[in-house]
Amino acid sequence: MVETTIRAGVIGRPIAHSRSPLIHRTWLDAYRIDGRYDAHDISPADLPAFFAAMRRGEMAGCNVTIPHKETVAGLLDRLTETAATIGAVNTVWREGERLIGDNTDAYGFAANLDEYAPGWDRRAERAVVLGAGGAALAIVHALIGRGFGAIDIANRTPERAAMLADRFGKPCRAVALDDPDLYRNADLLVNTTSLTMGETDGDRQWPGLEQLADDAAVTDIVYTPLKTSLLSAAERHGFRTVDGLGMLLHQAVPGFERWFGVRPAVTQVLRAKIVADLDSHG
Ligand code: ATR
Repeated sequence: MVETTIRAGVIGRPIAHSRSPLIHRTWLDAYRIDGRYDAHDISPADLPAFFAAMRRGEMAGCNVTIPHKETVAGLLDRLTETAATIGAVNTVWREGERLIGDNTDAYGFAANLDEYAPGWDRRAERAVVLGAGGAALAIVHALIGRGFGAIDIANRTPERAAMLADRFGKPCRAVALDDPDLYRNADLLVNTTSLTMGETDGDRQWPGLEQLADDAAVTDIVYTPLKTSLLSAAERHGFRTVDGLGMLLHQAVPGFERWFGVRPAVTQVLRAKIVADLDSHG
């Protein structure tokens, strides 16, 4: 019998906590697609065999997560311009026997703001990005794509902020985390650090937020908790806030469309399902 089920999945180590299977399986059910999406615990040494099987047609593609996002690039046949610029791959698909690597985090970040803070990029004079890790790279790329005139990057380790700013050049600048004018007149504030992650975040203070532009949007890529200390503080000041869960949902869209041929919708039903899952096991 010829296998007709389209297969995709996510590779990482550890992989048990990935929400990607729940997201993609929800869409497979919603669109009644004959497909599978599985989590694969894969070590770096197993990557070549995994992609060899994909080249033979055993899978349509996969998502890639920690610790493989940077290293898989060398095992693929082509990277999209976005993946090459960001230097990390989170989505792979097959074209014939060729494997293509993309990075959809920048897309997911911008799509989330488009949904929950429409017009967030209208003025686009100044954005402040907290953090200079892998997530910040994708976000700076997205902000450049939306035409921000100044992108100021502040990080605990200033050298990493300087490296990130140098990598993209104008309009990026490294700035000090304790600069008293850090937030002044910024149209957008993004937290990409793990500072707000987990139970300890609770009552963290964010002095200076009142300096943001009147109609500024504030977003956190952390989604556990959903309402981080930064978003609570921004809300108290009356700013628009956008949580990080939407970025996770939207970054999944392009991969699903490539593998299964349907562009899936990020709905409230999907969001509620992931929120319930987060509530049940963090
Ligand atoms: P990711 O790929 O998710 O961005 P990462 O590369 O480990 O992960 O980056 C984590 C970011 O959170 C970094 O900017 C890190 O700052 P350093 O470069 O100084 O390490 C930041 N970060 C983590 N814990 C932090 C803390 N307690 N205070 C301030 N920044 C923190």
